[in-house]
Amino acid sequence: MARELKGLGAGLIAGLGVVGAAFGVSAIATHGQSAEPQDKPQTKNQSVAASNASLTNVSQLVATGHGFYTTSCASCHGKDGKGVIGPNLHNLGDPDAKIALNIKNGFKGQMPPYRDKYTDPQIAALVAYIQSLT
Ligand code: HEC
Repeated sequence: MARELKGLGAGLIAGLGVVGAAFGVSAIATHGQSAEPQDKPQTKNQSVAASNASLTNVSQLVATGHGFYTTSCASCHGKDGKGVIGPNLHNLGDPDAKIALNIKNGFKGQMPPYRDKYTDPQIAALVAYIQSLT
């Protein structure tokens, strides 16, 4: 008798487990459905926040690049980037990669190479600054 009860108990527990699992799944499904309309504005806010964050990152990058530019480039390209010995850098229209390569390699006899002076992230900041010159 005790054994039978035990067996029954185990069966009940196993049964409850299945029921519990079924409830668990349906609870998640219901949650998913009811939560969806509330999630939408939140997702929108999150993407606005994300784009604000990336805007901040870009302006920080530009500010950092401006610092390097003033130190290393302004003597030839002008304080405002409009060119002195070196050309005007406003509205270059070159892709980032090309500007980065030009900075890294320089131009023989005209502009020194900067690949040993600045790291890739620092050159990326310089590129961001130059691309901000419109
Ligand atoms: C000694 C003067 C000098 C310095 C310093 C200098 N440049 Fe230049 N730069 C030049 C000259 C001259 C050219 C044009 C070379 C050519 O087209 O043959 C040039 C070209 C460039 C170009 C290519 C422009 C184009 O038309 O595509 C970029 C970008 C550039 N420089 C960025 C920089 C940056 C950034 C720095 C500082 C890290 C810098 N330069 C420092 C003289 C200089």
